[in-house]
Amino acid sequence: MLYSEKVMDHFTNPRNVGIMEDADGIGEVGNVKCGDIMKIFLKINDNTIEDVRFSTFGCGSAIASSSIATEMIKGKPLSQALELTNKAVVEALDGLPPHKVHCSVLAEEAVKAAIKDYYDKNGITYDDSLFPKEHDCEHCGE
Ligand code: FES
Repeated sequence: MLYSEKVMDHFTNPRNVGIMEDADGIGEVGNVKCGDIMKIFLKINDNTIEDVRFSTFGCGSAIASSSIATEMIKGKPLSQALELTNKAVVEALDGLPPHKVHCSVLAEEAVKAAIKDYYDKNGITYDDSLFPKEHDCEHCGE
């Protein structure tokens, strides 16, 4: 089968879908080539992600990636959420087809962008190298 059961599960029954009116941090990233857009909303308290929502206009793999990423960071300290990699997302989904791996990059980037937004809004200083620059499509092959 092309897609794992986990991918199908998170695609057909995505967790933490929606928008959050009073989010403390919002991250929006897009893939220019495919046009897919992912938005992550975070509720942060005491440096911990209390709640998270996502809205993704994108392919099934992007939706499954964002869904599982929200589960992976919910309840976690920001320092831990910042360590989320697209590789960890792919592993948690029991794999993605090679040409779909770039979709998981959006999830990592959206989470990081939301945390950066929170830091920026609250005047918290951070190490720039923690955050990716503009989305690098060469890197993900799209
Ligand atoms: Fe664009 Fe999956 S094809 S994110």
